[in-house]
Formats: sequence, C-alpha cells, structure tokens
Amino acid sequence: MTGKLSPIDNAKYVAARRAAEMVQDGMRVGLGTGSTAAWLVRRLGERVRDEGLKIKGVPTSTATAQLAREVGIEVVSLDQAGWLDLTIDGADEFDGELSLIKGGGAALLQEKIVATASDQMVVIADAGKEVEALGAFPLPVEVIPFGWQTTRTLIEEALDTMDVLGTSVTLRMNGEAPKITDEGNHILDLHLQRIGNPRQLALVLNQVPGVVENGLFIDICDKVVIGHGDGRVELRDINEGTVEVDELGDDGENLFSDLAD
Ligand code: A5P
Repeated sequence: MTGKLSPIDNAKYVAARRAAEMVQDGMRVGLGTGSTAAWLVRRLGERVRDEGLKIKGVPTSTATAQLAREVGIEVVSLDQAGWLDLTIDGADEFDGELSLIKGGGAALLQEKIVATASDQMVVIADAGKEVEALGAFPLPVEVIPFGWQTTRTLIEEALDTMDVLGTSVTLRMNGEAPKITDEGNHILDLHLQRIGNPRQLALVLNQVPGVVENGLFIDICDKVVIGHGDGRVELRDINEGTVEVDELGDDGENLFSDLAD
C-alpha cells in the first residue's frame, strides 16, 4: 500500500493496533475475519517477528488462516487449542450492549464457535459500525444447501411474528452462483432494517430446520475497540463499565508499506 491510509482504513488500523496490545506471550488467540481483522493479523505478525511474541492463532476462516501463516503466526485448529484466552474480530454492527451482527464476510459460523470458546471476545471496528438498534446491516444466516428455499420460507414465516421492520430474505451470491461458506453452506441475508429484540430473534432463527447459525452475537462480546479516522481509539468494557480513549495517530502507511495496493 502506498501513500496515506484513508480515514476509514486508519480507523480500522488503529482499532486493530490497540487490540493487538492486549495479546500477551503464550496466549491462544482467536483470529477474526474481514478487513479490520486482517489489520490485526498483520500487526500480530509484526509483533511475532519484531518482539518474538509467542502465540498460537486459531483462524476463523481459510482466508485468515492463509494470512496468519504468511505473516508468521503459528496456526492451530480450535480442537488443538482446546480453549482460547482471547478472540479479536471485526463486526458489521454493534449496539450499546455490545450485541453484534456478524457474517458480512460469510464466516459467522466459525467466528461464533471460536468467540464462544474464548475467555474474552474483543471487537475491533471503525466508529461507523455503532448503531442504536441492530438491523440496518442485513443479518446473515448460514443454512445448509439442502432445501434452502424451504428454509427461506420458514424463516420468512418466523419473521412475521418478530419485532422487525423488514422481512425480505435473499440468497447471497458469488457472481452467478450461490456463495459457498468455508463449511460448504449457503448464506441467507435478512433485510430487517431494525431488530427490536435481537436475543429473541437469535433463538427463533436457530429453531428453523436447515439453519446452521445466525449472525447475531448476544452476550459474547466483552469489549469493543472503536477506531476513528483521526487516530483516536476508544476502548469500552461492557463488564467493567469503563471507557478509555487513546491517540494512536496514523502511522499505518509506514508499518504496512509492504502491502500491495
Ligand atoms: C466476517 O464474516 C464478518 O463477521 C466480519 O467480521 C465483518 O463483516 C466485519 O468485516 P470488516 O472488518 O471487513 O468490516
């Protein structure tokens, strides 16, 4: 990457960089998926290279596994790790209770399993991901390919009884073909506009036959690191009820000067 980072990339970068400081020698760390998590993986790779940081990384997608190996992080499976000290991942939306929508990158299933198997989950996000109420971002739901149209109909029927503003459901495509997840499934995107009761919706969706998992993360995230374009970072801890603000500037262009444009 050449030149200065855009404000949005700098926001993601500073959030990732602040969260990377939470990782300590000997930790087993869940590595999220998406553009913000990619900054984190690169930063951890730097710490492995420059500081001799010793960690085991459990990736949440094949893309993250590949990047983690490229930057020199030791990659192990969740079963090899057993339990994780910390998972750091991005999100598509988060609210004041740190409930999340995830799955914009189609990796929600592994992401939810890995985050749940961790002492702590930290979300890294640019400030634009914060919402009053979840739902403007379409909610991803992973479904098995068999009978997916029936599953979609059942989901639409279930949505009629839920506190949501929209009920349209679309199959995520990859060009002309349905998007296939790392687990060989499809993604249905639920265009709900506003979710009145995320906890109830998460439970109802997982009762529909054919649904593997939904992208609502409730009571999973402990902290959020919010990056701003000017280099400010805010760390909110939902359990402690604390907020810290740091100033990290915008040196991402130097640290990541080896990235391709
Ligand atoms: C991947 O499936 C998602 O859950 C990502 O964590 C989410 O889409 C955030 O991605 P970005 O960091 O690219 O916005």
